[in-house]
Amino acid sequence: MTQNKSDIPSYPHRDLLGIEGLSPIEISFLLDRSEAFVEHNRQQTSKKLDTLYGRTVVNLFFENSTRTRTSFELAAKRLGADVINMTVESSSIKKGETLIDTAMTLNAMHPDVLVVRHSESGAVKLLSEKVNCAVISGGDGSHEHPTQALLDALTIRRRRGDLAALTVAICGDVVHSRVARSNIHLLNTMGAQVRLIAPKTLLPTKIETMGATVYNNMEEGLKDCDIVMMLRLQKERMQSNFFPSTREYFHFFGLTYEKLANTKPDALIMHPGPMNRGVEIDSEVADDYGRSVIREQVEMGVAVRMACLETMCPIGNDDKGASES
Ligand code: CP
Repeated sequence: MTQNKSDIPSYPHRDLLGIEGLSPIEISFLLDRSEAFVEHNRQQTSKKLDTLYGRTVVNLFFENSTRTRTSFELAAKRLGADVINMTVESSSIKKGETLIDTAMTLNAMHPDVLVVRHSESGAVKLLSEKVNCAVISGGDGSHEHPTQALLDALTIRRRRGDLAALTVAICGDVVHSRVARSNIHLLNTMGAQVRLIAPKTLLPTKIETMGATVYNNMEEGLKDCDIVMMLRLQKERMQSNFFPSTREYFHFFGLTYEKLANTKPDALIMHPGPMNRGVEIDSEVADDYGRSVIREQVEMGVAVRMACLETMCPIGNDDKGASES
């Protein structure tokens, strides 16, 4: 893949902390850049580029991750960057060092990009204000997971074209979901119709003010939609009982072929992963690769993260001021 860095228009933000506030042009720019990496990543010959040769990316994950952490590492390596992976278990956070002190310590080593995941909403923004390198959010609490929404949008766009023509149903544990929030922002910004389907206990109050139509019944909410995005039931974030039992939850809100019959016949099935099979989605439906694009979402994750790293780490961006995001 050939590319000339001087051809890449500048991105007006230092960081990517969320989708909220990004313009349709900025989102399209990141998706177009991602698109350019999809075929590159599929080639059988060397996938290694030297775009970010000599640059340093630090993955700082305060929460578990398979897809996001691995794909950021792969993306950085494919662009030729040096990558450091830090986990809480192996860091001085275990000795009591604070988030900010950890960030300042890493900042003193002059990384070019910090990719951060944290369990508290707002923690990644706080950290970004203390460092002078670019920061990309790998997800913060129930706030946002911007690269997940971008990879979801890329997957949809490649399959269905214009996002503005689509009705997307986001189903399940919305209240705990940063994926849902980032997707609501992105889909609304790009002109799609957004539906949220969940029991009342798993919906934040006034969520409809974000620009979504709320349903408490799968059959009604799925009617004639183009895309079904299932969300993981995040039991690790639940302090109390949000539903009577997993069995009952699956009965009313788990995606089965029976419920799927309400959508358009060619509706795509999505899930950000990790999946709870038999809880929010029937195993057969998840593995129905005529309609399920769950594996494709993972593939698009690498392309999107390459685009984000390339964009946040442009050549000549040595004057890294305060975040404008
Ligand atoms: N979708 C997602 O963020 O997955 P991981 O938690 O495995 O990164």
